Amino acid sequence: IYRKQTPTSLPGFVLLGPSGAGKTAFVTLAERSAVAQTHTSTSPLAIDAILPDTIVPTSAHYRSPGDPAYERARRLLLQDTPGHGKLRHFAAAQLANPINVRGIIFVVDAAAVADEAGLNEAAEYLHDVLLALQKRYTGAKTSKGPKEIPVLIAANKLDLFTALPPHLVKISLERAISEVRKSKAKGLKDSGVAMGGEDDGLDEEREWLGEGGDGPFEFRQMEEVGTTVTVKGGNVIGGDAADVQSWWEWIAEHL
Ligand code: GTP
Ligand code: MG
Repeated sequence: IYRKQTPTSLPGFVLLGPSGAGKTAFVTLAERSAVAQTHTSTSPLAIDAILPDTIVPTSAHYRSPGDPAYERARRLLLQDTPGHGKLRHFAAAQLANPINVRGIIFVVDAAAVADEAGLNEAAEYLHDVLLALQKRYTGAKTSKGPKEIPVLIAANKLDLFTALPPHLVKISLERAISEVRKSKAKGLKDSGVAMGGEDDGLDEEREWLGEGGDGPFEFRQMEEVGTTVTVKGGNVIGGDAADVQSWWEWIAEHL
């Protein structure tokens, strides 16, 4: 894959998610309008992409094709990150300093999350991403608060017959994140007791994703901290053709 020089001022969308989910496949499709063989990524990659012709961004509704402002409003930066557990620092760096980031696209393999190991891996990663967004929001110094960062969960590989439909991907992830949250809180408590720290209570609160209490975690709890979470299915490869239309629609909505 070749790299293009890209102006950093373009609105960006960061791709996160477990290894093998299809992040680079999507970026490649966006760049070339054709699928290509991908390999496990070891470094981040940014490409300058243009919305497909069939989609009009919200910001360009009152302009017409041919108008330079209309054309400019269709451009964006797709930022691919490696999903491997040992390479997540690239993604963490993007999250820590999201300059001109309009949204996060968390890609999951909808067939991989049908089994427990795949589901837990995705849920742990997603938990950490959402917690980072929550901390960013609650820790913001300005009175206006930081700009909201929406999250799209792109349930990929729907061409596979073992893939969970998007609504089940959503429910499964919410359930698994509830468990992740519980076990992380327990781990924190145990280590806090061992160390006898004074502000354990505060720490526990800060590390708790979503609403307090014993209820289950639900994605809509993230709205309180400026993040709407949307789940949309698709497939980059396979089937009769790629189907990533609903992801582009989501991107256009936030561009
Ligand atoms: P890392 O770089 O390791 O984080 O993974 P990634 O998320 O970039 O995954 P990548 O895009 O390399 O895709 C992993 C594999 O899944 C590749 O063999 C792709 O061809 C395949 N793949 C991607 N999208 C689809 C899809 O929609 N359907 C099917 N059947 N396979 C897909
Ligand atoms: Mg990759």
